[in-house]
Amino acid sequence: MKLTIVAATGGIGRQLLEQAVAAGHTVTAVVRSTKTLSKQVRVIRVDLATPDRGALESAVEGADAVLSGLGARLSSDEGVASRGTRAIVQAMNATGVRHIVVVSAAPIGTVPSPGRPNPPRHDPGDGFFMRHLFSPLTKAALRQQYADLALMEDILRDSDVDWTVVRPPRLTDGPMTGTYRVAHGQNLRRGLFISRADVAQFMLRLLNELESIKQSIGIAN
Ligand SMILES: NC(=O)c1ccc[n+]([C@@H]2O[C@H](COP(=O)([O-])OP(=O)(O)OC[C@H]3O[C@@H](n4cnc5c(N)ncnc54)[C@H](OP(=O)(O)O)[C@@H]3O)[C@@H](O)[C@H]2O)c1
Repeated sequence: MKLTIVAATGGIGRQLLEQAVAAGHTVTAVVRSTKTLSKQVRVIRVDLATPDRGALESAVEGADAVLSGLGARLSSDEGVASRGTRAIVQAMNATGVRHIVVVSAAPIGTVPSPGRPNPPRHDPGDGFFMRHLFSPLTKAALRQQYADLALMEDILRDSDVDWTVVRPPRLTDGPMTGTYRVAHGQNLRRGLFISRADVAQFMLRLLNELESIKQSIGIAN
């Protein structure tokens, strides 16, 4: 396939890039800096905080799918997931590209957003400790980041593109195992971790799973 990988220098992005190249896909990487790019592929430099429309259109044009590991790395990146994803969707619409798979986070199903002002109080997949301890704590600590991811999900839901949102819990740099659980529309009971390598593997797998289109999918160990 021809794939455009956004944020190919990030933890998940690097895994996406390496696994996609190893699988024989033709990759265009969208990055803000080429310094830490791990593979020699076609590269388009775009700062997604102030996205250049023409550059993004040339990055996605002709792609079978877009995969994004975009998210705030620094406090100055605040809002980048929603701003960048809005620009990517516009570029996809302008060039007729339909399929996008993005990374969000496990608690987002219960985070209010302009498009979902009254989400369920608890994710149906979360157990007692996740509902009453871990989830409230992480939501308080990562309030702005989660608001950004919730808005990103709104943008995709309101769009005409074929989107899939992957919602992992805590990410690790562990190896690719291929043994993880997934659930459509909810988190996984006692699913506290997942490696970036496994998230990337699952995102690539989703490109052939049409039933995942317009779905938010929980993934965990
Ligand atoms: N950490 C966790 O445990 C956890 C858990 C659940 C969900 N998540 C979500 O998963 C996402 C991906 O995780 P990760 O570990 O792969 O994150 P990461 O290593 O921080 O990667 C974030 C990527 O976004 C890029 N980026 C940020 N601002 C940008 C901008 N203005 N223009 C272009 N690119 C920009 C970064 O580029 P640079 O390489 O140039 O910085 C980097 O490639 C996180 O951002 C978060 O939203 C994280």
